[in-house]
Amino acid sequence: EKENGDLFSKSFQDIISTLPKGNSWGFPDHLLQYHGFWHSSVFLQGILSAQQQFQAQPADIILCSAPKTGTTWLKSLTYATITRTSYDDSTSPLLSKMPHDVVPFMELDHAHFSTHRHLGIPVLATHMPYSALPKSVTDSSCKIVYICRDPKDSFVSLYLFLSKYQKSQNMQTFNLEEAFEQFCQGVCWYGPYWDHVLEFWTASLEHPDKILFLKYEEMRDDTILYVLRLAEFIGCPFSSEEEEKGVPEKIVKMCSFENLSNLEVNQNGKHRVGGAENANYFRKGKVGDWENWLTPEMAARLDQITMQKLSGSGLTL
Ligand code: A3P
Repeated sequence: EKENGDLFSKSFQDIISTLPKGNSWGFPDHLLQYHGFWHSSVFLQGILSAQQQFQAQPADIILCSAPKTGTTWLKSLTYATITRTSYDDSTSPLLSKMPHDVVPFMELDHAHFSTHRHLGIPVLATHMPYSALPKSVTDSSCKIVYICRDPKDSFVSLYLFLSKYQKSQNMQTFNLEEAFEQFCQGVCWYGPYWDHVLEFWTASLEHPDKILFLKYEEMRDDTILYVLRLAEFIGCPFSSEEEEKGVPEKIVKMCSFENLSNLEVNQNGKHRVGGAENANYFRKGKVGDWENWLTPEMAARLDQITMQKLSGSGLTL
């Protein structure tokens, strides 16, 4: 396996040396453009490794999203829904572990470890674009759940997340206006944002039984409704007895921003060795907080790009 690893990193170095380089918002390594999307080299290595190694099984559930669109929340809701007969809202591992430690990322946590599948429960998350997913994911009958969000809120969330990380590492933070320019040009982790969303949107129209397409704002509006849909879609619908007992409500409450963000593990913990502080994943959890960060001109520019990019798709954001 070591020899394979060495060969892999040699061919990886060969691949990345040929890729277009993009602005990385103040981080030392350039973003790299691979098949139309921008990635850091660590994530790209994980993507290529997952493409080579990951073997999806029919019962797998793959949670997909662009960064800062509600991934942490979707992970916790899905995990709590799937494990509800083993745990309740007083015993769930979500009370003592960060959602990212409960549901791993395919291209980060899983791809770098080994070729073996040792998922506790068959749920994995990824930020990969649809076109980059391992073939076994798109070809098998496993389910995909995608979440997206208003790009204005996603941009603000991403910018503030990265700035906090840069501050914590005593790095110079990147200027908001410059980051905004890069985001508009599509240069951001797993961007262009719109292309990421559109790929999953189009695939969800073609394969509605395989891909559930969710919007953060709609889920914020009526979380219970979407948890019922999610449960149905992933093949573990709530029974009428469970509904009478208020099980979906309890899951929604346990996974709420207010509850998760106040847990000790999410206030003071860190996930992954040397990783980001858990608290950074729980900033505000509001729809429309962009108003506090973007000028009306910036908002209008993003809206304009969104309208252009999504025109004719039937999708609005
Ligand atoms: P804000 O920065 O706007 O607050 P991701 O999980 O994909 O990294 O997305 C992070 C965004 O989801 C952050 O948005 C974060 O606050 C919000 N979030 C995290 N947990 C949440 C929860 N339980 N409910 C709603 N939003 C949540």
